[in-house]
Amino acid sequence: MNDHSERPLVEIHNLTKRFTHRDEELTVLEELDLDVYKGDRIAIMGPSGAGKSTLLQVMGTLDEPTSGEVLFDGDAIFERDSDAIADFRNREIGFVFQFHHLLPEFTARENVMMPGMIARMARGEVEDRAEHLLEMVGLEERLEHQPGELSGGEQQRVAIARALFMEPRLLLTDELTGNLDLKTGAGIHAMLSDLNEETGVTIVVVTHDPRLAEQMPIKLVLDDGGILPFEPGDEQVGDRIPESQLYREPTNPRQLRADSNEDVWQEAQESA
Ligand SMILES: Nc1ncnc2c1ncn2[C@@H]1O[C@H](COP(=O)(O)OP(=O)(O)OP(=O)(O)O)[C@@H](O)[C@H]1O
Ligand SMILES: [Mg+2]
Repeated sequence: MNDHSERPLVEIHNLTKRFTHRDEELTVLEELDLDVYKGDRIAIMGPSGAGKSTLLQVMGTLDEPTSGEVLFDGDAIFERDSDAIADFRNREIGFVFQFHHLLPEFTARENVMMPGMIARMARGEVEDRAEHLLEMVGLEERLEHQPGELSGGEQQRVAIARALFMEPRLLLTDELTGNLDLKTGAGIHAMLSDLNEETGVTIVVVTHDPRLAEQMPIKLVLDDGGILPFEPGDEQVGDRIPESQLYREPTNPRQLRADSNEDVWQEAQESA
C-alpha cells in the first residue's frame, strides 16, 4: 500500500485557504499536503470548524485555493478557465452532501436521470442507466417513489446514485450520514465500499463519527490546518501525507476517540 508506482489521482501541494470576514483574515487550511490514489477510500475527521468542508470544496473544484496547487491526474486544474473547470467537475467529480437536494416532485428514477438529461444523452439510455444505478444502491423496488415517500437513508442512496451517474472518478461526501442513525449510516458507508470495489471509484468521506470512519481503510484528521493520520504512524496512510506529519499526534485527540463521544456529550450537558 505504501509503495505507489502510479501517479496519485489528486495531488494537493502546499494548499492554503484563507477567508476574509469583516476585514479579519481567517486561515483555515495552511500549507496542507495530501495525495489521493485511484481507488482509495478515505475518511476525514476533525472537530467542527476545522476546515473539512472547505478542503472538500477545494478538492472538488467548487472553491479556489488561496495559494498552493491541486493536480488532478497531474493536471493543474485551477489554471483552466471557469468553463473548463465546471465541465471537468461535471464529468469527473460526484458530490453528495448531507442535504442532498433531491427534486421533490420527481421520482427516484427521474432524480438519478437528471445529470444525463442535462448532458443531453439519449432518454432510453439514461433511463436504463438510472435503473441500473438504483439497483446498485438497493432501491430497485423504489424507482417510482418521490423523495417524500422514501426514508432518509433511501434518499441518501438516491443522491449517491445520482452522483455516480456520469461515472465520476472521484466521489466526495460531506456528512452524508449526519442526520441518520448509526446503523443506517454504517449501511450507507458499507455500500460506498461495495461501489468502490465494483466500479473502482475513489471515495473521500467527511464524517464526525469515528465509528463510521472506521469502515474506511484510510483514516485522516484535519488538525490545525493540516492533515494527520487518525492513528499516529498508521501504515495505511503510507505516502499520502509528508513523512513529517505521519507520527504527529492530533492537537485534541480526545475529541475524536470513538468511545468518547458519549462522554463528550455528557460533559457538554453538565457544563451547560
Ligand atoms: N465563505 C466563508 N467565509 C468566511 N469564513 C468561512 C467561510 N467558509 C467557511 N468559513 C470558516 O472556515 C472555518 C472552517 O469551515 P468548514 O465549513 O470547512 O468547517 P468544517 O470542518 O466542515 O466544520 P463542520 O464539522 O462544523 O461542518 C470555519 O471557522 C468557518 O467559519
Ligand atoms: Mg462541514
